[in-house]
Amino acid sequence: MPVELTYEPHVVPPRTGPRSLSALQEEVLALKREKNAVILAHNYQVEAIQEVADFVGDSLGLSYQAQAAQADVILFCGVHFMAETAKIVNPGRTVLLPDLNAGCSLADSCPAPRLAAYKAANPRLYVVAYINCSAEVKALSDVICTSGNAVQIVNRVPADREILFVPDQNLGQWVSQRTGRPMQLWPGSCYAHVQFTVQALEKVRLRFPGAPVVAHPECVQTVRDLADEVCSTELMVKFAREHSAREIIVATESGMLHRLRREVPDKTFIAAPTDSCACNDCRFMKMNTIEKVRDALRSGAPQIEVPEATRHAALIPIQRMLDWSRR
Ligand code: 13P
Ligand code: SF4
Repeated sequence: MPVELTYEPHVVPPRTGPRSLSALQEEVLALKREKNAVILAHNYQVEAIQEVADFVGDSLGLSYQAQAAQADVILFCGVHFMAETAKIVNPGRTVLLPDLNAGCSLADSCPAPRLAAYKAANPRLYVVAYINCSAEVKALSDVICTSGNAVQIVNRVPADREILFVPDQNLGQWVSQRTGRPMQLWPGSCYAHVQFTVQALEKVRLRFPGAPVVAHPECVQTVRDLADEVCSTELMVKFAREHSAREIIVATESGMLHRLRREVPDKTFIAAPTDSCACNDCRFMKMNTIEKVRDALRSGAPQIEVPEATRHAALIPIQRMLDWSRR
């Protein structure tokens, strides 16, 4: 029996020419110069923000950029844990986040007091924390990882230590399978990535036969198993550049398609659908708008602050990650 898509797929065709900036974007660029600011943006930000950013990338690339930033102000266009990480690695800068409510369901799924209690009951555990967690959780962890370096990081954990992976059970399961390292998994997940299903992907594949699927490791195992490649958002750019296919199905947040179109302008990208929608937005990432970026630069707020004792303790596992995975 033929399977029908109940909505039109979200297709981003090859880019035909350069886009001119809006008056608001020009205002942001002028303010950026006036305030001596650098704009760091995650791959999931809206296109208008990506276009004015000095750097657009994944959590790992953004962490390195934040640590190296010399500007007085880091305007971080992403979610709270990312801006907090920037403040931890570069405390001398003013770090702004356009919308302080831009959180993360994964970070919320692991409250620090619960992790502290679990560690107290299981003192031998080596805690590997996905960067999508609060500064307080980082401060309780042995090493941090991102989706871009998780395999590399877990491979460096001393062989005689049992690992507790927090807070994403899907990424943790994927890393465990890739490394062969058994680990305890904290029961957290990304509310957006778990909405991708095999059923929805198979429907869109009928429309684009032959198009490979690239999926983020925060997706559930059945989706990861179906994918041709599972990787971080930064590595999706590499995959798109190197694969011979002209059309690629992308199972991650829809902002990624802007970055892909800019970096690989001659290919067509299709957003992987969910069971109810043609694409998948993270409601937290999309809280930042170009208007809020302008307002943050104008007013110097909202600022990210991290208590010094927490910052100091959280820097240790972050620095360990940066040292273990230097590109
Ligand atoms: P990346 O580091 O792969 O960009 O992932 C960040 C994230 O929040 C994915 O949901
Ligand atoms: Fe967090 Fe998921 Fe949004 Fe990434 S996409 S910031 S993991 S809620």
